[in-house]
Amino acid sequence: MADKVLVFEMSPRDGLQNETAMIATADKVALVDLLSAAGFAKIETASFVSPKWVPQMADGAEVLARITRRPGTAYTALTPNLRGLEAALAAGVDEVAVFAAASESFSRRNINCSIAESLARFGPLMEEAAAADVPVRGYVSCVTDCPYEGRIAPEAVAHVAAALAALGCYEISLGDTIGQGTPETVNAMLEAVIDRLPAEQLAGHFHDTGGRALENIRVSLARGLRVFDASAGGLGGCPYAPGARGNVATEAVVAMLEAEGLATGIDREALAAAARFARALRPGDQEGDLER
Ligand code: HMG
Ligand code: MG
Repeated sequence: MADKVLVFEMSPRDGLQNETAMIATADKVALVDLLSAAGFAKIETASFVSPKWVPQMADGAEVLARITRRPGTAYTALTPNLRGLEAALAAGVDEVAVFAAASESFSRRNINCSIAESLARFGPLMEEAAAADVPVRGYVSCVTDCPYEGRIAPEAVAHVAAALAALGCYEISLGDTIGQGTPETVNAMLEAVIDRLPAEQLAGHFHDTGGRALENIRVSLARGLRVFDASAGGLGGCPYAPGARGNVATEAVVAMLEAEGLATGIDREALAAAARFARALRPGDQEGDLER
């Protein structure tokens, strides 16, 4: 039987959060429903962050209330603090995620606190999520490069990843936030992280600004990772990471994995329909601008 890979769909959250023109709630709901029809086991559907910081994500509760939930799909959300967790739980999420960074400057810009402060802030959130029986994923941003500090030391990534795991995150998603990672820098980073945590507890989250995300996924596969985040249509970016372009396109990731003989369980025609819809949500996008 083919080895399995879980593709964690990001477009409703990472894909849309960076769009400046407000996207209608109905369109977000339609996107999630199209993705559900493609058979994703996990869809990052919303973000319960401050609407002052990311206005595009302010309607997360409404999106979660209006989607059609497919049995077998977990609908997840970002939660930066206890307040976000409580809103996410009230909206009926299946899983939440906390997000930290391996770069002090990015941590400040993105969540307005130091790395150590962010880890301390997650403690009570983890306890409340455990009491509600909701799994918590952890992200580490800037795992190879930071928009403010440049190259990040692999050991800094390993330190934050291990700290998130010690807090109780069931999985750590390693984010190449600005898509500058290369097979060499990703490999060195993974070596340091795998020294502390098993590859089975790690996921790869690659943006594709430099066009090397698929190569970086191959390096991660060789290191034993079997979970990858991707965004239909290659949408994405982070408002606090200048220059961060799209996440690696889910359709490209699924095609590559299946060509390698790895099973994703995704219906590729249904995914193509979701990707077309996602791209159409981005004003001024061109069909040819997608291979990134
Ligand atoms: P702060 O200003 O330090 O915190 O922001 P605060 O507690 O002073 O709150 C500011 C205001 O927001 C207050 O409102 C709070 O009530 C409100 P006011 O009193 O001024 O009217 N507030 C909230 N409202 C709703 N939900 C909440 C919430 N919390 C506070 N949960 C904070 C700190 C963390 C809140 C802020 O910095 C923030 O929301 N940052 C989020 C930034 C973000 O979403 N970035 C993108 C996601 S991360 C990413 O994309 C990377 C990733 O994809 C991986 C990768 O690629 O590397 C995951
Ligand atoms: Mg991201």
